[in-house]
Amino acid sequence: MRKIKAGVLGATGSVGQRFVQLLSSHPWFEIAAVFASERSAGREYSEVAKWFLPTEMPGEVAEMTVKSLRELDDADVDIMFSALPRAVAADVEKRCAELGYAVSSNVAVHRLEEDVPLVIPEVNASHLALIGHQKKRRGWDGFIVTNPNCSTIILTISLKPLMEFRIEEVHVATMQAVSGAGYAGVTSMAILDNIIPFIAKEEEKMEREPLKILGTLEGDRIVDASFKISASCHRVPVIDGHTEAVWVRFAETVTAEDVKSAFESFKSELKTPFSPKNPIIVREEEDRPQPRLDRDAEKGMSISVGRIRESKGEGSEIKYIVLGHNTIRGAAGASILNAELLVELGYL
Ligand SMILES: NC(=O)c1ccc[n+]([C@@H]2O[C@H](COP(=O)([O-])OP(=O)(O)OC[C@H]3O[C@@H](n4cnc5c(N)ncnc54)[C@H](OP(=O)(O)O)[C@@H]3O)[C@@H](O)[C@H]2O)c1
Repeated sequence: MRKIKAGVLGATGSVGQRFVQLLSSHPWFEIAAVFASERSAGREYSEVAKWFLPTEMPGEVAEMTVKSLRELDDADVDIMFSALPRAVAADVEKRCAELGYAVSSNVAVHRLEEDVPLVIPEVNASHLALIGHQKKRRGWDGFIVTNPNCSTIILTISLKPLMEFRIEEVHVATMQAVSGAGYAGVTSMAILDNIIPFIAKEEEKMEREPLKILGTLEGDRIVDASFKISASCHRVPVIDGHTEAVWVRFAETVTAEDVKSAFESFKSELKTPFSPKNPIIVREEEDRPQPRLDRDAEKGMSISVGRIRESKGEGSEIKYIVLGHNTIRGAAGASILNAELLVELGYL
């Protein structure tokens, strides 16, 4: 089978490097072009990417010349993976779709547009049906598909099996890794020996995106799930792996055992290279999950849950801890899994 030609937009950044790492050994895709800012364009990838991953920079990409976004029109690719800053991605992703490329984006800017699928394959693969409406409405040969924000994806995968019970309200407090802020995002003097109790625009995304993902496709639109989410987001001195403390209130009686067994029986029907066998792994130890021990589960594509317990007091409330790899399951790996789903369903 001919490999599918992929371009990476924002290839030198925190998520972009993950794309390069993960795509370079992918059996279906090959990296045909890498794009970054004018600062990097025209230079060799190895010269401008400050490689920070523990594996070697892939040789075939190291020698590539980084392209400028002005060269988009001549890119010989089938799909663009996007890890651009929001302001840049707004027009660039649309231009790519106009040019006929499939765009699998990490970026927030188009996620909540009515005809743009916001997808986690194990949760709402059917929402890809919006692609047909998007292409028709906008007159594009290509299309844009997005994956959620890194903390949203981890929370939402854990909420999906709990949708069989009636969820009334969700509270979540995050402990987010520094790689989520981008390569130059948080200085060491700000984060070492410290916690920063604010991440710009993060709480808004966590309170809104899961409702679209867990919503129902009706014709050419998504009807959002109807419960309320309240989030508090914090940056902590961990390199990779977001941890979240979650409280879920139900409109019916639900025990910790019910929740544990819903997590355990949650499986993926997708059998593609990046699809984890167990999207959710239940950790039995009382002090798990932990970032260093659990973020790389199933090559970073599984989330881990633990400390599932009932809240004391009135009503039916369960609390638990969930953890996932923010730049793999929460970013580059998520876009690649979406692309695999596009291939499986014949969109690519
Ligand atoms: N980090 C995460 O865990 C995570 C998770 C989910 C989603 N995201 C989203 O993914 C996107 C990338 O995040 P990141 O953390 O990887 O950021 P980053 O480390 O700052 O990387 C940004 C990338 O975009 C390029 N770029 C910057 N300005 C540009 C311009 N004007 N024109 C063309 N390219 C430009 C940079 O190239 P140069 O090297 O040449 O400057 C670099 O390759 C953001 O939208 C972010 O919100 C991030």
